[in-house]
Amino acid sequence: MKKILINGGKKLHGKIDVSGMKNAALPIIFACILTGKKCVLDNIPDVTDVNLSLKILEDMGAEVIRISRNTVSVDTEKLNGMTSRHDLVSRLRASTYLLGAELGRFGEARVGFSGGCDFGVRPIDQHQKGFEALGAKVTVENGCNRVVAGPQGLRGGSVYLDIASVGATINVMLAAVLADGKTTIDNAAREPHIVDLANFLNMCGAKITGAGTSFIKITGVTELHGCEYTIIPDMIEAGTYMVAAAAAGGRVTVSGVIPKHMETVTAKLIEMGVSVDEDEDFITVTSNGKLRGVNIKTYFYPGFPTDMQPQFGALLAAADGTSIITEGVFDNRFRYADELAKMGAEINVLGRNASIVGKKKLSGAPVTAVDLRAGAAMIIAGLAAEGKTEISQIEIIERGYDDIVGKLRGVGADIRLVDDGA
Ligand code: EPZ
Repeated sequence: MKKILINGGKKLHGKIDVSGMKNAALPIIFACILTGKKCVLDNIPDVTDVNLSLKILEDMGAEVIRISRNTVSVDTEKLNGMTSRHDLVSRLRASTYLLGAELGRFGEARVGFSGGCDFGVRPIDQHQKGFEALGAKVTVENGCNRVVAGPQGLRGGSVYLDIASVGATINVMLAAVLADGKTTIDNAAREPHIVDLANFLNMCGAKITGAGTSFIKITGVTELHGCEYTIIPDMIEAGTYMVAAAAAGGRVTVSGVIPKHMETVTAKLIEMGVSVDEDEDFITVTSNGKLRGVNIKTYFYPGFPTDMQPQFGALLAAADGTSIITEGVFDNRFRYADELAKMGAEINVLGRNASIVGKKKLSGAPVTAVDLRAGAAMIIAGLAAEGKTEISQIEIIERGYDDIVGKLRGVGADIRLVDDGA
């Protein structure tokens, strides 16, 4: 079994190049289905979730060619709808995008239930509301979600999302780009990866305006062509390394970023007493390891990103004073608290709130990565703690971080990946 071993207490110095954004690459990979042509995607992160999505498409008949570690071509001309493998689909949340993509191209979709990190219930009722607004019928059949367009095919419609759901916004966009007529999505998610998907689809000939705002308009077209597209940098990966530098102390530059995407993380680190300097496409974090406790409320973009919450939980566990984290997006995203407690952290969780009493120092311990960002939080805690930390179940971390061990070693962390073959 693979584990990550860390000897804590080393300051970090140097530069980390940030990879392409997992949560932008995933919808764009599934969106290739809509073109029925060849697309070349650049700055694709080499992470398990992305490679699994490419495998799902390949198994469905797409031609997937890895041109380089971070560039892939995807030709979906020969792809067969409704043939995705349930055992693969059940391993990631992004496979829900198959519903919108298959419905948009073939007029019907059948996809097994998706998986993903366990934060409590992760329904798709808002996705369903969007499909129904386009005249489609949604049912559950033989352990699959089934969506079928109306007798006249998919017709543009208007949907108001009760929740600014990233997944629902993406799925409605995918279904609507080839529908007959205009579609509007009100209370749409505004994340940068929604904009990236819209830019990709527009480069393929779609007509989408308003992405990045809460009101998106889509005018259906009859077909899409292929294109070559570069994925945006991963703001969560960049934020994770910024927090690691703050926790361990030292001076680290994350490069190839879009500083605007990082503004809530930057502001929170400055509030904690960390020095953050930003330039065109890089941000430098300088820290002496002395941190002030702060309160954090996560919310939909442009609010504080929920995907940075566990990482800050680890940082605040060794800051001065008591901090309160309020999780505004998911029901249960504090599963990492029990793991941090094994390192001496004092975190009291009550529903969507956690109070953290900062400690002078955490101490290394054997811990488990219970979900993707919780795994990153364990690494951050291990870097700052005294002594050895051993993290198991690290395959979860490899789902969303491209060579996190190598990148941290590159800035002086005493961290390594071991495989005891068990
Ligand atoms: C995406 O998940 C991301 N995953 C998550 O990142 C991220 O945390 C989340 O967006 C929020 O930013 C991918 O992009 C693959 P949502 P998604 O639909 O689409 C509720 C990571 O660490 N909801 O915006 O599933 C839902 O239960 C992962 O990279 C409904 O009630 O998130 C949640 O409470 C973790 N009904 C809230 O909305 C619905 O139909 C936000 O969910 C859909 C969602």
